[in-house]
Amino acid sequence: MIVLGIESSCDDCCIALVEDGQRVIAELQHDQTARHAPFGGVVPELAARAHTSTMLPLFLRLLEETGWRREDIDGVAVTKTPGLHNSLMVGISFAEALAYGLGRPFVGVNHLHAHLYAAQLEGQIDYPHLGVIVSGGHTLFGIVHDYNKYEVLGQTVDDACGEAFDKIATHLGLGYPGGAEIERLAEQGDPRSARLPRASLNNGGPFDLSYSGLKTAVIHQLAQFWVDDYPQTAENIAAAFQDAALTMIIERVKALVSQSGITTVVCGGGVCANRAFTNRLHAIDGATVRIPAAHLCTDNAAMVAAIGFHHLQQEAQCA
Ligand code: KG4
Ligand code: ZN
Repeated sequence: MIVLGIESSCDDCCIALVEDGQRVIAELQHDQTARHAPFGGVVPELAARAHTSTMLPLFLRLLEETGWRREDIDGVAVTKTPGLHNSLMVGISFAEALAYGLGRPFVGVNHLHAHLYAAQLEGQIDYPHLGVIVSGGHTLFGIVHDYNKYEVLGQTVDDACGEAFDKIATHLGLGYPGGAEIERLAEQGDPRSARLPRASLNNGGPFDLSYSGLKTAVIHQLAQFWVDDYPQTAENIAAAFQDAALTMIIERVKALVSQSGITTVVCGGGVCANRAFTNRLHAIDGATVRIPAAHLCTDNAAMVAAIGFHHLQQEAQCA
């Protein structure tokens, strides 16, 4: 079964053809970073307008470059939630109209479930497993019981981890999005240069977390947390921030593994491009950590088509 996947929940306009939920035939992406960079973040109205003008040309290019015909598409899957409302609407309207025109079934999928499914494009993973999403929009821990059965155990109550990286990068004048720049600077700094707060929440669950305190500490209260012997360089600030931001996730993953007894940890989201993070994940005692290739960690349409395949198959069986 050939499924066309469409992802437009934020600023990436992505389209992909995937066979049987496993083999990526082709994927294309239109990156809007340059459009949003001057504003230091994604401007929802601009993102939606850009999706409107790029979606159809991207689809036509996909067919042209691969030689596949629109009649070959057996079903259409699209991200339906969560995300920027208007951006989602562009993808959903396009997908539904296309499916109607082709006389093929259409399904909307959850963006977070798709992130957690992305690693299965590199090989099947047994259920249950732990799922960890660390992206610019989400930071979430849970148990994945099946492609359509999830138990959320904790998440950020304010900023996502990647969002905190981006805000600290902007504060340090590194441009947007600055997660990768923070990583590059941190390699030359010393994480011991500041003892930054790593919030656990009194009124949240043990796996909930908050990045606003860490962000405020770096931007407004750094002197309070700085260790005197260290020079206050951008490298040291980046290293101390990165260490605190990542430790908050690593500690929770360790606790999840030991408390749940589930040892397979499947990760997704753009922050998984950070090597300090992936090294620490892979070093967790007793855990087998699966992190897909970078293009499958960030927003992409292959993960939408892949999980969409299972939903479409299920619907066909019930029909
Ligand atoms: O998953 P993604 O493409 O977008 C969302 O769906 O949110 O993730 C983008 C996020 C941005 O916040 C970016 O700064 C962060 O991932 N990021 C990184 C690195 N590369 C990208 N954060 C830390 N270290 C990196 N190397
Ligand atoms: Zn995402």
